[in-house]
Order: sequence, then C-alpha cells, then structure tokens
Amino acid sequence: MLIHADYLSAIQRRCSRRKYTASPIEEEKAEALHKSSASYNETSGLNMKLILGTGGELFDGFKRSYGLFVGVKNYIALIGRADDPDRMEKEGYYGEKLVLEATHMGLSTCWVGTSYDKGACDKLLAPGETLDLVVAIGYTEEKHSLKERFMENNMRKGGKDRDSLCEIAGEAPNWFLHGIDAVAKSPSARNLMPFVFRWQDGKVSAHTTQQAERVMVDLGIAKLHFEIGAGGGRWDWGDGAEFHRE
Ligand SMILES: Cc1cc2nc3c(=O)[nH]c(=O)nc-3n(C[C@H](O)[C@H](O)[C@H](O)COP(=O)(O)O)c2cc1C
Repeated sequence: MLIHADYLSAIQRRCSRRKYTASPIEEEKAEALHKSSASYNETSGLNMKLILGTGGELFDGFKRSYGLFVGVKNYIALIGRADDPDRMEKEGYYGEKLVLEATHMGLSTCWVGTSYDKGACDKLLAPGETLDLVVAIGYTEEKHSLKERFMENNMRKGGKDRDSLCEIAGEAPNWFLHGIDAVAKSPSARNLMPFVFRWQDGKVSAHTTQQAERVMVDLGIAKLHFEIGAGGGRWDWGDGAEFHRE
C-alpha cells in the first residue's frame, strides 16, 4: 500500500515496457509486493502471484511472444476462481494497484493478455482456478529500444482524449474531471480504452463500450485510476456500477 500522492505520481510515470535487463528485483521490493498481493488476495478472493526468475518460460523465443518481449525474468500471474463473475474486473483493479506500487519502486511493467505462453502457467493453478493474463515486471534501461518504440507508435493509434472518455449531463465537479484525467493514463489492451465514465444526477458510473469478457480487465484498471484521480472513494463491481465518493 502507498499513500495517495504516491499512487497519483505512479500513474503519471507508468508506461508499458517490453525489454528487460538481467538485474533481479531486490529482496525487500519483492517482499513488499508479495505482502501487498497477499492482502489484496484476501480482500478480493483472487490468487495473484509474483513469480521471480522463470519468466523466460512464458516469453523467450519467437513462438512464445513473437519476439515482442525480451529478457522477461519475472511476472505477476493474475489468477482467480473460475466461478467468480467479477474475477476479470478485480484482476484489473488489484493487478493495476500492484503495477503502480511497482512503478513507485522504480520497476517497469507491462500487462500481457495474449503475447505469452499461457500453458507454461498451468502448474500455478489449483483446482477451480483460472489464469487470465500476466504482468511482466522487472528493470529496464531508461532508453526505449527500437522495437519498443515501434510497438508504442502502433499503440498510439488507439487511446482517447478526456472528452471521449466521459459523458457529462449538466456540470461535473472538478474531482470527476481529475478522475477522468487519471483514466486517460490507464493501460488497456491494444490501447483501445473500451469504457466511458458517466456523470448524471450527481452520480458517477462506469460502462464498457464493447462486448468481450476481456474488456472487464480494462474496466477494472480504469476504475482504479478514476478512484485515485478523484481523490478517494469506492466502486461497486460490475459493468455500469456506481462510484461512492469518500
Ligand atoms: C489487459 C491488457 C492486456 C494487454 N496485452 C498486451 C499484450 O498481449 N502484448 C503487448 O505487447 N501489450 C499488451 N498490453 C499493453 C498495452 O498495449 C498498453 O497498455 C497500451 O498500448 C497503452 O500503453 P501504456 O501502457 O504505455 O500507457 C496490454 C494491456 C492491458 C491493460
């Protein structure tokens, strides 16, 4: 857990990185991330795991990640109960909380939904559990590699500005707009940002704009960003659910 200002500055600093160095994650940082994930697992019913050293099994070689990811040694496995209807949204919300904490520690990350060998994670699962995606995590050079820049340019075609991320009936308060600014910085698969945040009759709700089950991960990430940008509050789970400001 971080203080609010540290989550906010991590939102500003975070960006997806795909080429990692051989430097291991220090023991005390790994310990802090293990502790956070244990606490979020307890709250959410998820079973997120930080796996150190064996990331190559998921990413090395063209067949596993199409060469998109280089040098990944560590990852966070986003695991939940197959029968939990809110699983994907929770994975987005709590996974991104870990991502922001890692960013604050100076670590780099990238959410990965497709470009990895999912079968290599089967051994992590208990009966009734399923793994939906992973987050690559570790150290990177400051300078982005040529391949990273190519991916970033491609992804920039997605992305949305503040106006297309919200629907406002009447006049919204500043804290709502600050929430939307933080949503505009949230990672999403292919940078599609498939959601809209609504202000109506003094109430805030968040809605997906696509049908696929996977968009709930993006929604969960965006809801966390909104909550941090707005300066605190609590979300109900679900598509179209409401935000309760504190
Ligand atoms: C749920 C999810 C799945 C993603 N899957 C992949 C992936 O399979 N491969 C990849 O290279 N990037 C993946 N990304 C990273 C996005 O491309 C990236 O977040 C987006 O382009 C925005 O860039 P930024 O994170 O630097 O702000 C994924 C992101 C999210 C949130």
